[in-house]
Amino acid sequence: AAWEKQVRRSSTPRRPNGLSVLVTGAAGFVGSHCSLALKKRGDGVVGLDNFNDYYDPSLKRARQNLLKKHQVFIVEGDLNDAPLLSKLFYVAPFTHVLHLAAQAGVRYAMQNPQSYIRSNIAGFVNLLEIAKAANPQPAIVWASSSSVYGLNTENPFSEIDRTDKPASLYAATKKAGEEIAHTYNHIYGLSLTGLRFFTVYGPWGRPDMAYFFFTKDILQGKSIEIYKTHDQKEVARDFTYIDDVVKGCLGAVDTAEKSTGSGGKKKGPAQLRVYNLGNTSPVPVGRLVWILEGLLETKAKKHVITMPRNGDVPFTHANVTLAHKDFGYKPTTDLATGLRKFVKWYVGYYGIQPRTKKETQPTDESG
Ligand code: NAD
Ligand code: UGA
Repeated sequence: AAWEKQVRRSSTPRRPNGLSVLVTGAAGFVGSHCSLALKKRGDGVVGLDNFNDYYDPSLKRARQNLLKKHQVFIVEGDLNDAPLLSKLFYVAPFTHVLHLAAQAGVRYAMQNPQSYIRSNIAGFVNLLEIAKAANPQPAIVWASSSSVYGLNTENPFSEIDRTDKPASLYAATKKAGEEIAHTYNHIYGLSLTGLRFFTVYGPWGRPDMAYFFFTKDILQGKSIEIYKTHDQKEVARDFTYIDDVVKGCLGAVDTAEKSTGSGGKKKGPAQLRVYNLGNTSPVPVGRLVWILEGLLETKAKKHVITMPRNGDVPFTHANVTLAHKDFGYKPTTDLATGLRKFVKWYVGYYGIQPRTKKETQPTDESG
């Protein structure tokens, strides 16, 4: 069938010893960037995405078109569709899965809790069930989250720190994913690597995230809300630029050991790893707004909310020593530099005319 042909072609590496990677959530923010990076270096890539409308699906379609130009095929389907996934692994013998599909967003979990259970728990288990039965068994690298540290008081966060106080259902499902990974590694010898991303931003980003809708609202003259903590302190995030995260994802894929398979001639325990992928320098949200105001040459109408926001943690701060040691991860983009690239993409994508007479030409920079 045409579908199978496209999957086969897209999954075939174009370099010697290239990988064949299934990227779930490939029409998403991190997934689209990782798919392009893998393809550009010669690996085979097939995407999977259900194109749900948690945020503007037309942005997901635009990312899909960009990937299509680079010969990356995205299968439209859900993580919970077991027959579809089985067929996919049957048609293409993936060496790796980069699992980025999830219901993201911290505060939306209070509005639609079931979507987190469906995608982040049931969907993850379904993927692992199919992967464990696949031949070969792929190594799996998946997105966890800095939110697993929850109401942690250690600063910065290290992988050995406690993760027993999730502050949101989103965080609880990401934490559950880490426990589920442990059991699949233990019983079936699946190679599993979890990546705890820290508030990722950049071109082609997510419209539900603060930096994105702050930009929109500032440009439209609407007021924005800046949340403070219980004790009236500024909330801070270890904002991490997308290109740094992509390098981390590819580093984790490249150092993932093969799965050992369960029973029989088990060569020894397969890998189970978890890494922080952050920027290592937390920035208060007020400063993020200040940088955006400068880039947009517009003052924001600020509204400070002193009531604590349910689900939010007061700060995040990554220690990335482990990722640096194991695959050379080193974040290189500071927030001002990264936000400049985001704003350049934003005005180009939405066709916004520059306010002042400047040489800022809308571009189609993909980041
Ligand atoms: P995103 O929402 O842009 O991408 C996720 C994609 O997965 C979307 O395109 C969505 O349509 C798809 N998807 C969701 N549920 C699905 C399902 N059941 N079946 C098939 N497809 C499904 O989010 P993102 O920012 O690219 O995040 C990627 C991953 O990283 C997620 O697991 C997220 O939880 C995690 N993460 C993101 C951040 C961040 O700041 N962006 C931080 C920490 C962790
Ligand atoms: C982000 C992603 O949205 C999650 O998917 C991800 O798992 C998480 O990072 C992570 O690192 O694990 P969050 O940090 O809450 O979550 O990202 P935003 O929603 O963009 O919020 C950033 C900061 O702005 C937070 O401190 C939040 O309190 C603050 N904020 C948000 C406001 O001050 N005002 C708003 O209107 C919205």
